[in-house]
Amino acid sequence: MVAWRTPKVFIPREQIHGTVQRLAEEIRRDYRAAPPLLLSTLKGSFMFLADLVRVLDLPVEITFVRLSSYGSGTVSSGQIEVVQDLYEDIRARDILLIEDIIDSGRTVGFLHAYLAPRAPASVRVCTLLDKPQRRQVPVTIDYCGFTIPDVFVVGYGLDWNEQYRHLPDICVLEP
Ligand code: PRP
Repeated sequence: MVAWRTPKVFIPREQIHGTVQRLAEEIRRDYRAAPPLLLSTLKGSFMFLADLVRVLDLPVEITFVRLSSYGSGTVSSGQIEVVQDLYEDIRARDILLIEDIIDSGRTVGFLHAYLAPRAPASVRVCTLLDKPQRRQVPVTIDYCGFTIPDVFVVGYGLDWNEQYRHLPDICVLEP
């Protein structure tokens, strides 16, 4: 058990929900004719995905991969591990990646390479948070919730050492 630090609200839940609505409208507009397969990366995106699909009003299918890019603490290890693989046949499917945050860009870069041999029709990217100052791998983001500075955020699915994922707001940790 790691010492608990007090979270301070950085993006309040009302603002998150407004932005999720806006993203849902953008996605609905683009995919009305052919709903995509949402591919969510666990664990961090679980809360965003759950809120997004409830307001999306599209008959989407949902699947998951579980990847890990951070070791412990706040610094990325740079290594991506597939912890839970994708089982669906995605050939000729329109895939929409659902991410909680894009930081170095390694995870989304890895996912593009991981999906390409499975021959999807298209792969687009939706992220709640984008931290462009930390980018190491270029990423095209099709739907972006918030662009944030280089601060370590927790809550609304995001963790620090597996803690704080349950918080309904996006927070920063007080020192
Ligand atoms: C986090 C987050 C993204 C990824 C982004 O996942 O959920 O998937 O890091 O970082 P990147 O752009 O530098 O690759 P993490 O590996 O911490 O696992 P988690 O989702 O289980 O928290």
